[in-house]
Amino acid sequence: MDPIARIKTDRQNARMVDDPNADLCFLALSESGQPSVRTLVLRDITTEGFTLFVNKTSPKWSIIEANNTAEMLVWYTNSQRQYRINGRIEELGSSDIEQNWHRRPSGSKYMDYSYERLGSQSSEVDSREDLIERINGLKEEHPEDAMVTPASAAAIVLRPEVIEMLDLNMPNRIHDRRRFVLKDGHWQSTQLIP
Ligand SMILES: Cc1cc2nc3c(=O)[nH]c(=O)nc-3n(C[C@H](O)[C@H](O)[C@H](O)COP(=O)(O)O)c2cc1C
Repeated sequence: MDPIARIKTDRQNARMVDDPNADLCFLALSESGQPSVRTLVLRDITTEGFTLFVNKTSPKWSIIEANNTAEMLVWYTNSQRQYRINGRIEELGSSDIEQNWHRRPSGSKYMDYSYERLGSQSSEVDSREDLIERINGLKEEHPEDAMVTPASAAAIVLRPEVIEMLDLNMPNRIHDRRRFVLKDGHWQSTQLIP
């Protein structure tokens, strides 16, 4: 079984039934022994791996720079399958973000602008009202059709090395749990006690 093909099929099926997790993942990172996890939009699954968009002003970016090993979790409620995907994160070329950034919702584009002009992502602000006022100022200063992809917007890919699947669709509650390890370009599977 190719776990990537399986994840892609499950994701497609999840989209068809409007599973709210269909386009999401949960990315765990670790720096100096301190774990952290966040929800991200899973942009694409390609032969390269699992593509995400992040901003380089964010705390997660400095964590990735210090330690690019990561675990991504996806859970599709309709297929009742969980995948834990371990690997290394790498930045994709600027063309990946260039091609997609302009298609982002307007609000997301102005957030990216705000990280460079108002304060880095996740930094503190005086108040929500103040932030909204300053973002409205950005909207006046930069009409949407004149916006350019900010240098801090990045596309990254998690290149999978180990994938663990837990499939709950089994009789007698004896779930099917398997670990897939990528060796010489091929996935090798072992069965685990769930
Ligand atoms: C449904 C959902 C989707 C999200 N998608 C993204 C995303 O694609 N990229 C991103 O940088 N943050 C996304 N976020 C916000 C992150 O979870 C996180 O709060 C933010 O990136 C700051 O993370 P950091 O402080 O660990 O850098 C999303 C949050 C939710 C709830």
